[in-house]
Formats: sequence, structure tokens, C-alpha cells
Amino acid sequence: MNKRLIIAISGATGAAYGVRLLEELSQQPEVETHLVVSGPGMLNVASELDMDRATLRGLADEVHDVRNIGASIASGSFHSDGMIIAPCSVKTLACVATGVADNLIARAADVVLKERRRLVMLVRETPLNLVHLRNMVTVTEMGGIIFPPVPTLYMKPATLADMIDHTVGRLMELFDLDAAHLLEPWQGMIRDQSRK
Ligand SMILES: Cc1cc2nc3c(=O)[nH]c(=O)nc-3n(C[C@H](O)[C@H](O)[C@H](O)COP(=O)(O)O)c2cc1C
Repeated sequence: MNKRLIIAISGATGAAYGVRLLEELSQQPEVETHLVVSGPGMLNVASELDMDRATLRGLADEVHDVRNIGASIASGSFHSDGMIIAPCSVKTLACVATGVADNLIARAADVVLKERRRLVMLVRETPLNLVHLRNMVTVTEMGGIIFPPVPTLYMKPATLADMIDHTVGRLMELFDLDAAHLLEPWQGMIRDQSRK
């Protein structure tokens, strides 16, 4: 079955999460991706990954300017299976939680929530203040999924790439996409090992 996903990259550290996700989705012919990147998001893509705008754009089927509030993805009549904001800054979290749809990322997320579609936000900040926590509760109450990119150390990742891939795999599974090659399912703890 074909899927249509909106992918946003905002200005939190962790641009690799959004980029790896796009790379994986570009290998899945049944998935159509619509990318929107904030100014600070592009800054982090460039500084953390040494990736230029053209290369990033090449990973998506369609790219929308974050200032273009008239883009297709700004309307509920644009049918999508949902949206992933990876990484998501606490500023974008605040905009979504309060309905301040002043750029295309916040507007598209607002639309996804109002249409009761799936919104997943990789909120990246630490430590968290009370406003961050309250905004996460608000988005959760609206049906969004707060998905901080917290590494899964019990899988014993050997590299940073392994850690990122595990998170990307979990993200894809939230949209019923095959990510078996990225995820080793947890087999349960072997009793003898836990007693060592
Ligand atoms: C190098 C760098 C790293 C940043 N890391 C974070 C972060 O991890 N989390 C966060 O919420 N904001 C972070 N920020 C701040 C956001 O980029 C800033 O609040 C910006 O206004 C977010 O706008 P946007 O959500 O529209 O991209 C960082 C900024 C820079 C320059």
C-alpha cells in the first residue's frame, strides 16, 4: 500500500535522525516523502553532517519552503499518513502545543493533528524545564507522539550509526513500515547473564 509522509527537520541537534530517515524512506518505493526544513534545521544539517541543501533535497520526493504557508501540506485536503519531526526543537514543540502555526512545519503539524493523523515528534533537549514538559503533555493529549531520540543501550550499539538506525527503525515501525534490517528485535534477557 502506498504511503505519503511529511518529514520535517527543525533546529535541534540530531540532524542525522531526519537525514537517515529520509535515506531509508527513499529506498521504499511505496513511500512518498514531503520534506520541510527550518532555517536552524538546515544550519544543523550543514554543520553536523557537512551536507548541503541540494543533497538534502535530493533525498525527498518533494521539498517545501518552510516560509511557504500556502504549500500543499498546509491543508487538510492534502492526504497524508502523518508527519515526523526529526529532530524537533522545543521551540517547534511549543508552536505545535499552542497552535502557533507561523511556519510550514508548525502549520503542517497542526493540520495533521486536526485531521487526527499520526504526528511523531523527536523532541531533543536536556534537561527539560516545566514548559517543555507541559508542552509534551499537551501534544500527547492532542494525539501526538512524543518520541525523544533516547538511545537503546541494551542493544549494545557498536557505533553512533547503529544507535541512530535503531531509533529510525522504531520510527518507521510506528508507520507500519518494514524496518527489520534496522532493528534486532529484543529476544528477552537470558537469565544466566543477568545473574553474572
Ligand atoms: C548548534 C545548535 C544546536 C541546537 N540544539 C538544540 C536542541 O538540541 N534542542 C532545541 O530545542 N533547540 C536547539 N537549538 C536552538 C534552536 O535551533 C532554536 O530554538 C531555533 O529557534 C529553533 O527553530 P525551529 O524549531 O524553527 O528550527 C540549537 C541551536 C543551534 C544553533
